[in-house]
Amino acid sequence: MYQFDIAAGSKAELYRDLASALDGLTADEPDAIANMANAAALLWEYLPDLNWAGFYRNVGGELVLGPFQGKAACIRIAFGSGVCGTAAATRESQLVEDVHAFPGHIACDAASASELVVPIVVNGELLGVLDLDSPNVARFDAEDQAGCETLVALLALRLLGNC
Ligand code: SME
Repeated sequence: MYQFDIAAGSKAELYRDLASALDGLTADEPDAIANMANAAALLWEYLPDLNWAGFYRNVGGELVLGPFQGKAACIRIAFGSGVCGTAAATRESQLVEDVHAFPGHIACDAASASELVVPIVVNGELLGVLDLDSPNVARFDAEDQAGCETLVALLALRLLGNC
């Protein structure tokens, strides 16, 4: 059993402790699916107000559903399509306060109101994206984006070679 000491006093503390927990969870494990699965579980448990947390993998230039927590979701997303496909195509994080105002947003779960998608890039290679959805409008801010980009940078090194 894993036990984590996650402080939730501020977002800075929360993401600092999540990075430490993610580091410990993935440090000795070379299997990318296992590491994405535990990362999704960690974020799902400790980030408040989410209705979906997980990964899409870059499989031959298409995003394919990876490990996640939440409702069953769209399986394949083309680069450039929706929030995830936009993050994959631009290789830039997408912080969307209101998904209904995002052209082409793909509604996997009608409850989603805001979304944060962070591309996973390592050594110039796009491995996939981290996708977080919330039922609350404007759930994510710049601190969440920075925190998740730090988590993704750490995780990316643990996904190399077998995503
Ligand atoms: N809303 C995403 C699709 C993935 S689900 O939210 C899990 C999008 O527009 O890319």
